Amino acid sequence: MSTQQLAGTSRPERDEQPDPHWGEPHPLHDPWILANFQARPTDVLITTAPKAGTTWMQQILHQLCTGGDEAFEDIDDVVPWLERQRPPQTWRQVLEAFEALATPRLFKTHCTWEQTPGRDIARLILTVRDPRDCCISFYHHLMDMTDSALACHGLERPASLDAHVDAWLGFGAWFRNLASWWPQRERDNLLMLRYSDLKADLPAAITRIADFLGWPLTPQTCERAAHLSSFAWMKANSQRFAGRNADGSPMFRPGGFIRKGETGDHKTQLTPDQEARILRRCRQELPAECLAYLGLG
Ligand code: A3P
Repeated sequence: MSTQQLAGTSRPERDEQPDPHWGEPHPLHDPWILANFQARPTDVLITTAPKAGTTWMQQILHQLCTGGDEAFEDIDDVVPWLERQRPPQTWRQVLEAFEALATPRLFKTHCTWEQTPGRDIARLILTVRDPRDCCISFYHHLMDMTDSALACHGLERPASLDAHVDAWLGFGAWFRNLASWWPQRERDNLLMLRYSDLKADLPAAITRIADFLGWPLTPQTCERAAHLSSFAWMKANSQRFAGRNADGSPMFRPGGFIRKGETGDHKTQLTPDQEARILRRCRQELPAECLAYLGLG
């Protein structure tokens, strides 16, 4: 997109129709950003369903890219959320800010494959996590958010875990996201990793990521990136990851957001019936190979 277009007050012609791939709109998503974002081959897009380890991958990539940076204040400043509305900023101002980011630009997105702009141009890192853990993580996300943050995001605190499981299944983002990305997993410009792979051996996962991106990696850089991306470091620095309200106040209560960071957390929290509802939906919406990859087969 040219600076002239960005500076204009009327929308460019191709904005007149919504993106045909837009599909399910999300109240926080800005379709104009998605319709007008110009990807570069050096861009890296972190693509995840909510609560699948998005922020962890933001931190890993930022640390790999910089060789170790402890000076940033908010991870979203250095690895922005691509499609997120940012009032009072207009979509043009958001895109202008994206244009000014240093190369390689890093972004996170919760878009489906079809919604993701630049999906054939940028490098894509897909992180997937057990849906039962994502569901539980989302529950605590809502329980730990401050009232003002909930209101600002148009969210509500669930009345119970059971009500949350129903709402999470109804929202369906986890299923929509993986059903759309799974068929793309063999693409040359895509690397798929499981949250459990990162948990099992973080330095090995970091090495895979650096290899995929063609970024040089010394043992020292790998060790430093792993240290700064460890759960302990991120928990101790959680104010850099948990976001702030417009008035600067924290979006989460202390201990929230960078919360527990475990695989299999659902085992102590979901009832057999709640788990069965999630697994039934998985079998309805995803191929057996995908379920086996996630250990759900
Ligand atoms: P829990 O709520 O299960 O603890 P997202 O960034 O997609 O919203 O995902 C948030 C989840 O990733 C939270 O899961 C959070 O604790 C976990 N997470 C963040 N950083 C992590 C790290 N360094 N190691 C393990 N898990 C991490």
